[in-house]
Amino acid sequence: MPHNNNKGIGSFTHHYIPATQMGQQSPTLLLLHGTGGDENDLLDLGRMLAPGAALLSPRGNVLENGMPRFFKRLAEGVFDVPDLIQHTHELADFVESASRAYGFDADKVIAVGFSNGANIAASMLLLRPQVLAAAVLLHPMVPFEPEGIPDLTGKRVFIGAGRRDTLIPMQNTEQLVQLLQHAGATVEAHWHNGGHTITHEEIRDAKQWLNLYYKE
Ligand code: MLT
Repeated sequence: MPHNNNKGIGSFTHHYIPATQMGQQSPTLLLLHGTGGDENDLLDLGRMLAPGAALLSPRGNVLENGMPRFFKRLAEGVFDVPDLIQHTHELADFVESASRAYGFDADKVIAVGFSNGANIAASMLLLRPQVLAAAVLLHPMVPFEPEGIPDLTGKRVFIGAGRRDTLIPMQNTEQLVQLLQHAGATVEAHWHNGGHTITHEEIRDAKQWLNLYYKE
């Protein structure tokens, strides 16, 4: 059963599931849901990607017509950048506090985000890169154009994208790949022929990619 224990660590409703014996050496997955999701949405995905690993799954605390998100947007794909920046820092602070409260290794946190969750994870790579060791970004876009390029040397990023995504033009995802590479990250982009949804092959490829950090 997921733990729902805020332990006084900030304003995110969340689940924290400790690593099982088998997953003790593995990273903690930071699960970040899409618009209208919540802290339950990606638990199964996390279990599939890294069985036995610790899972930290917050619920976005911005509401759009009752749907939880991680930051405000002005229209589909048009972000309220000051709000995004503020919420990125808030989420990064939450991850750091959660690491102290639950005792997981702050140097081994890997974000796994879908859509809106992938966008705030990308924003965290740009603004607070020290919080994430790596990231799995499923259907992300460029969150904002950073003023300075962060140093992402040593960070690995897996991107899952759909050629028929009606929300995110291919060009935008390619721009994100270039931005992260320019910052020094090692990026692996996996394209499928579908739209704005997570596919089985994407999960399989992301799991394989994560194997470097985690052995079953
Ligand atoms: C966003 O708002 O982050 C993107 O438009 C994707 C989404 O709809 O969540």
